[in-house]
Amino acid sequence: MKKVLIRNIGCLQTPVGSWSHKGSKQGMNEKFMNAAIAIEDGKITEITEDGKLPGAEEDFDEIIDAEGNLVTPGLVDGHTHLIFGGYRQHEIAMKLAGADYLDILRAGGGILDTVRKTREASFEELYAKAGAFLDEMLGFGVTTCEAKSGYGLDAENELKMLEVIRALGKEHAMDVVPTFMGAHATPPEYEGKEDEYIEMMCEELMPQVRDKGLAEFCDIFCEDSVFNAEQSRKYLMKAKEMGFALKIHADEIEAIGGSQLAGELGAASAEHLIAIEEDGMDSMAAGGTTAMLLPATSFYLDKTYAPAKRMIEKGIPVALASDFNPGSCPSLNLQFVINLGCLKYRMTPEEVLTAVTINPACACGRGDLVGTAEPGKQADLIIWDAPDFEMVCYRFGSNLAKHVIKKGELVK
Ligand code: NIG
Ligand code: FE
Repeated sequence: MKKVLIRNIGCLQTPVGSWSHKGSKQGMNEKFMNAAIAIEDGKITEITEDGKLPGAEEDFDEIIDAEGNLVTPGLVDGHTHLIFGGYRQHEIAMKLAGADYLDILRAGGGILDTVRKTREASFEELYAKAGAFLDEMLGFGVTTCEAKSGYGLDAENELKMLEVIRALGKEHAMDVVPTFMGAHATPPEYEGKEDEYIEMMCEELMPQVRDKGLAEFCDIFCEDSVFNAEQSRKYLMKAKEMGFALKIHADEIEAIGGSQLAGELGAASAEHLIAIEEDGMDSMAAGGTTAMLLPATSFYLDKTYAPAKRMIEKGIPVALASDFNPGSCPSLNLQFVINLGCLKYRMTPEEVLTAVTINPACACGRGDLVGTAEPGKQADLIIWDAPDFEMVCYRFGSNLAKHVIKKGELVK
């Protein structure tokens, strides 16, 4: 049983509890000054403050000196499209020529371009590429992430993506939460036959994903020109019936009923929500659905920003994630998302910290394990090159994660 002590922590800032935080609680963090953390077997056992130590130094196998810096829980990235073949840098020229995201998709590019490249890629290629992304994410302080399938769009390739996610979850230091997103787009072989495609997903593929235990969540892209609210309802109801928890890409470009559906079905989270309207927010608040907001995608698509403060006012738990993918957000830097949370959503640093730790942890079914620094939780922590979290919100473009600790082990 390895015992680790982190001492000389200038400030330990963390939300508390294993539940999601909404309304005025979104901005509630504890701050322990001049603190120390005792870790045993990868879990936090004790936190002390005011210069006290949780035991004599010689009782510990390893001592980490935080040198007076800020410590927070490891970040949780609750929305990524981690596994994909190729890249789409050629879309920059198309965008400069005036094409928008859905124009590119309707012309057979965008997601469908990545589908072609992902189908061509082997399990080993996808595994190596995504493993390197996970290394990079850990370096930014992300210690748990969600990962979606959705660039296979047929049984063979969706299962291949989910197998890659499963293998990485077992073999990489990162905790990876698997989501089946077979309904990310309609593949060319089903063009114009969206209903048939959804039927095939529900009747053939979803049962296989469940029987193989390859995903905890099911997600669908509910959007104009992709899947409508009725198709989304069918897919998500089937998923719920099969025991999956639900996520939905909703109201990203147009509000076509996705956020209402999310609340109505009790989805764990609805993602994007740039175009959400009041009734969608009311439904999410009533259903206890977390808003998984993706400000780096607004930035990259040059769109407006989701009404995060209004959602907090309405009692919706808000989480912020990267949406890392090869099209609408080719960045996995969750620290930039933190900057945008403050500057574009106008959230306070405390609200933002909750939104990148405990709220996404809960929306990914990991609230009892990670998302806060408290006795009993996994020792997933960041020692920042910063005295306080305001500094992390204020500096941008640099990586301020100085050391990253995963299950009590220094991984950076
Ligand atoms: O969440 N909006 C839909 N899906 C992804 C983008 C995927 C892609 O463009 O490859 C998203 O932004
Ligand atoms: Fe997404």
